[in-house]
Amino acid sequence: MKFFIDSAEINEIRELSETGLVDGVTTNPSLVHKSGRDFNYIVREICEIIDGPVSAEVTAIEAESMVAEGRKLAAIADNVAIKVPLTWDGLKACRTLSSEGTMVNVTLCFNANQALLAAKAGATYISPFIGRLDDIGLDGMELIQEMRAIYDNYPDSFQTEILAASIRSANHVKFAALAGADVATVPPQVLRGLIKHPLTDAGLASFLSDWEKTGQSIL
Ligand code: E4P
Repeated sequence: MKFFIDSAEINEIRELSETGLVDGVTTNPSLVHKSGRDFNYIVREICEIIDGPVSAEVTAIEAESMVAEGRKLAAIADNVAIKVPLTWDGLKACRTLSSEGTMVNVTLCFNANQALLAAKAGATYISPFIGRLDDIGLDGMELIQEMRAIYDNYPDSFQTEILAASIRSANHVKFAALAGADVATVPPQVLRGLIKHPLTDAGLASFLSDWEKTGQSIL
């Protein structure tokens, strides 16, 4: 499973990229707003740090304008993936941008039929929003399972990768991996939390304490 960071905070992205475990980044207009910084500048800066796909979302509503915005954002760096919403215009823009060789991430996916349409439109990534489905009492993970099953029924036609989004917890990451999501885009605090286990901390403390008692040193 690939890990993307779901953030527009450059310092967080830089710090986490040093783990060597970050395969890409996703941003959205709300994350850009939260950062308080210029969108084009943020995208350029992230692309300088991260080699993998960096999603930048269009804000136009009509296909033609989405394509124009997408082309402008894609010109920032080779690894920009254009995010378009799951609307008919978004799918038209997806088809056009994909056929030009630009990676497209179709976002705001909440059911399996939407995912089917995105794959048919040539999306590179489809982003099911797990957390927002859970928020309204539905099961985000069930959607990932359905999407995986549908895409796997048509391996020769669909190459679209399932990018689990709106992740809120370590359990979301685990269950998305079990369900076969190709990518999880993870908020920085959730990514940091994945490593935590009290028995790891306790075990390490006891090994180090016993090692000290041996009086030895490896180097
Ligand atoms: C990522 O591509 C999405 O925009 C993001 O995961 C949405 O997360 P949220 O539902 O926590 O805002």
